[in-house]
Amino acid sequence: MRMVDLITKKQHGKALTTEEINTMIEEYTAGKIPDYQMSAMLMAIYFKDMDDREKSDLTMSIVHSGEEIDLSAIKGIKVDKHSTGGVGDTTTLVLAPLVASLGVPIAKMSGRGLGHTGGTIDKLESIPGFHVELTQEKFIELVNKNKVAVVGQSGNLTPADKKLYALRDVTSTVESIPLIASSIMSKKIAAGADAIVLDVKTGAGAFMKTTEDARLLAHAMVQIGNSVGRNTMAVISDMSQPLGFAIGNALEVKEAIDTLNGKGPADLLDLCLTLGSQMVHLAGIGKDLDEARSLLEESIENGKALEKFKTFVASQGGDISVIDNPELLPKAEYQVDILANRAGYISEIIADELGIAAMILGAGRATKESEIDLAVGIVLHKKVGDAVKKGEALLTIHTNKEEIPEVEQKIWEGITIADSAAPIPLIHEVIT
Ligand code: URA
Ligand code: CA
Repeated sequence: MRMVDLITKKQHGKALTTEEINTMIEEYTAGKIPDYQMSAMLMAIYFKDMDDREKSDLTMSIVHSGEEIDLSAIKGIKVDKHSTGGVGDTTTLVLAPLVASLGVPIAKMSGRGLGHTGGTIDKLESIPGFHVELTQEKFIELVNKNKVAVVGQSGNLTPADKKLYALRDVTSTVESIPLIASSIMSKKIAAGADAIVLDVKTGAGAFMKTTEDARLLAHAMVQIGNSVGRNTMAVISDMSQPLGFAIGNALEVKEAIDTLNGKGPADLLDLCLTLGSQMVHLAGIGKDLDEARSLLEESIENGKALEKFKTFVASQGGDISVIDNPELLPKAEYQVDILANRAGYISEIIADELGIAAMILGAGRATKESEIDLAVGIVLHKKVGDAVKKGEALLTIHTNKEEIPEVEQKIWEGITIADSAAPIPLIHEVIT
């Protein structure tokens, strides 16, 4: 196999064979194929696409480029959830205990946040004492005992993806459906998932700006998962405005606790129940998605989901008194309300702008090395479609800096009040 011939083949829109894909990824990971040739291949894939079989082959070749987590010591079907990323997305904090409360094992490997979207680990670490440094043995023991544990990323998983992603970043080949789909799916599979639920976001705050692109990506990932023996379902959900009300680490933990108490924002609850019912159903519980959803609703009502959250937090060293009393979570020094400058209806709360505003406050990392401030962030009081009076508080900024003109400016770039506006639907499509 000569790499130049494979580039020519793909350039002409022909499908690469399984063996060609496997050899190419193996040799690229080993440093035997130079970046300039792989760059040309990525550009050829970008323009010529891949068929379903090629996408599955590419995914599995990336899985096999490194270690794979072996979760076979955990009893039951391990279902993982992946979100393509958004602003104020608190779903994992709610879903992990909620789904586990029905006996579904949740063995979650999570990351820290980069940029204006938060990471689950950062959020959890705003609970005093909570830690994610668990050995593989302890992690498995906790999942078997409590049905839920979260561990930080470790090990040499999918090294081919790390190399390819860095190369795509500098060759303008990130936005390619086969490349994104194989990148995301390879990481979930290498992390040991038996079944996968995907939350593909669409809108201004999302990686996929249009619903059509989100749909193509979701279908590609579902096809890959199902064809490599991991039952996969997906939801396409709105990320044009932030999810729920809270953006920021400790603020989102409080929002998750409220949701597990049955007092959370309607959109966050709806998304958790939609994704959660897919997870429960894939784990073999409930005769259909509707029954799975009812079981989850019951678990919130009877307190089992919140109880499971306490067990989970306590077993990873966290102080559970914050769950009964969220006032004990890290708190910012100042609270500044942003007031409506006219009466009308909220027509826009651009997720990206609000996410960047929260990052400037210190809730997110501008670079990998940035320190984050767990207490700060933004709490919305209105969502798109809501009526406002002049002078009414649209949102509250939680800050440890006295002067925040840049943050206020960003927020005003993101919010529009118009004469009329309709609410934005949250769920665009459910793919089963
Ligand atoms: N997220 C990933 O993990 N991979 C991509 O290619 C794009 C987004
Ligand atoms: Ca939120």
